[in-house]
Amino acid sequence: METQPLTGRRAIVTGAASGIGAAVARRLADLGAKIVVADRDEQPARTVADQVGGEVWVVDLADTAALADLRLEADILVNNAGIQHVAPVEEFPPERFALILRLMVEAPFLLTRAALPHMYRQGWGRVVHISSAHGLRASKYKAAYVTAKHGIEGLSKVVALEGADHGVTSNCVNPGFVRTPLVERQLADQARAHGLPEDEVLEKVILEESVIKRLLEPAEVAGAVAYLCSDEASFVTGTSLVIDGGWTAH
Ligand SMILES: NC(=O)c1ccc[n+]([C@@H]2O[C@H](COP(=O)([O-])OP(=O)(O)OC[C@H]3O[C@@H](n4cnc5c(N)ncnc54)[C@H](O)[C@@H]3O)[C@@H](O)[C@H]2O)c1
Repeated sequence: METQPLTGRRAIVTGAASGIGAAVARRLADLGAKIVVADRDEQPARTVADQVGGEVWVVDLADTAALADLRLEADILVNNAGIQHVAPVEEFPPERFALILRLMVEAPFLLTRAALPHMYRQGWGRVVHISSAHGLRASKYKAAYVTAKHGIEGLSKVVALEGADHGVTSNCVNPGFVRTPLVERQLADQARAHGLPEDEVLEKVILEESVIKRLLEPAEVAGAVAYLCSDEASFVTGTSLVIDGGWTAH
């Protein structure tokens, strides 16, 4: 049996210095892909790249003007970099809203735009967007994040339609809450916004909608990305692979 089916493939994973991105980089490298760790944090990016025998692309993806004329040689693009901000709409800082949309909608558009010509030339490509249960459902106090994730769902579907004749699939992965620094950083903000002690946030806010009462692990998300990059998933496009412990079953 082929154990490294992604041998010869080059995968750019954004936000791969931490959390889900790092787990995706490791999984795709295990499957034989050459990894480009694209992140603004150089040192942790280098650590992950060294672990997977990949390279580092130090880039601030919120600086979208610098991405406008980019051309990328990638067979797999995983749009993963993201941030969160928790505040009610009337107090939500406009510059924070704009930053989240630049990083989590505009940058994925520009990277996909830059990667498609190479994928089309070779007749094979995989674009995977790390969306969220928040790409399908809303929560209070996350206006920018929910807007951005709903936006990436639309971009993914358009790329699926345009890429179909070129062997390129585009899909979202929609995790519930994953055990990463992004969630750990939210605990204090969520406690403030919901008026709860920090130790009650996990049970009463974060896991409230999940039927399975635990955080998801980054490696489980990476498994879904690996599936979408496989040849078995060549007919899977324009869809959203939901891994949310039953949250959206409500
Ligand atoms: N953690 C969760 O519960 C969860 C759930 C659903 C979806 N997601 C999504 O998964 C993705 C990864 O989240 P995570 O939890 O692993 O977060 P994380 O904070 O652990 O990692 C995010 C990475 O993105 C990088 N990054 C942030 N801003 C950047 C910028 N301007 N330019 C380049 N890189 C930048 C960071 O340096 C970091 O390495 C995000 O899109 C997030 O919305 C996370």
